[in-house]
Amino acid sequence: MTTIIDGREVAATVRSELVASVDTLKEQGVTPGLATVLMSDDGASETYVSMKQRDCEEVGMNGIHVEIDPDAPAKELFETIADLNADSDVHGILVQLPVPDHVDKRAVVEAIDPKKDVDGFHPKNVGKLVAGNAQFKPCTPHGVQKLLEAYDIETEGADAVVIGRSDIVGKPMANLLIQKGPLGNATTTVCHSRTTDLKAKTETADIVIAAVGVPELVDGSMLKPGATVIDVGVNRVDADTEKGYKLVGDVEYESAEAVAGAITPVPGGVGPMTRAMLLYNTVVAASEQTE
Ligand code: GUN
Repeated sequence: MTTIIDGREVAATVRSELVASVDTLKEQGVTPGLATVLMSDDGASETYVSMKQRDCEEVGMNGIHVEIDPDAPAKELFETIADLNADSDVHGILVQLPVPDHVDKRAVVEAIDPKKDVDGFHPKNVGKLVAGNAQFKPCTPHGVQKLLEAYDIETEGADAVVIGRSDIVGKPMANLLIQKGPLGNATTTVCHSRTTDLKAKTETADIVIAAVGVPELVDGSMLKPGATVIDVGVNRVDADTEKGYKLVGDVEYESAEAVAGAITPVPGGVGPMTRAMLLYNTVVAASEQTE
């Protein structure tokens, strides 16, 4: 029997635990505040950001949302970030990526006060993560770790394959997996678009984490029987549905589920965890800024 890893359930547990921390902060006169900034008219980004705002409400945090016209000069975004950095009611700042081409993504990430960088993308926070001393673990890899923990999936000594080398998921995920200690100690291979024989890497892996944004790239024939499969991909593909598309992961679910020991569905796997860990990081940021 394959275990279906229920991200919605684990995320609900994380959120319910956070409510207690939020209440404690409120007793001290501090309501954790998360600012989301959207400079895009991409439908998926709009959906993600509105879900993040709804999550804030659910756990009793303040959600502040700023929208900037995607055609506006970059300066507007930098001014917004400067204002949010200076606002003591804002403990966490998330600028939804991608930003438009005329905006320098690196400069955006570096403009955010590292203490408010709840994404964990600022070079200072990346450095801390790589050094094994993370202040903010990036939300998706952190969420994946929580799922592995919740389902007692052993990483110590495991052969893990991370497919994808993005700054948001692949790189921090691999970094966490190789670290000493619980939820680390995995022998980790990072595959990407120039990997010559992906199957040769995945078919011996105990844990496969797919985060490339290629619909159904990994199928059951590429997996070791009993492997844990974590699907980070959320791809919109054309389909005869009301919305005109359906969501599929980077894993071809049916054939993978038949071989895997445990697998995350899309939707309902990693996505809810990413959002829950964003709330977690915001509570950490608020606590640190209150000390
Ligand atoms: N775009 C896709 N995922 C993310 C994320 O985790 N953080 C931000 N800021 N943008 C994203």
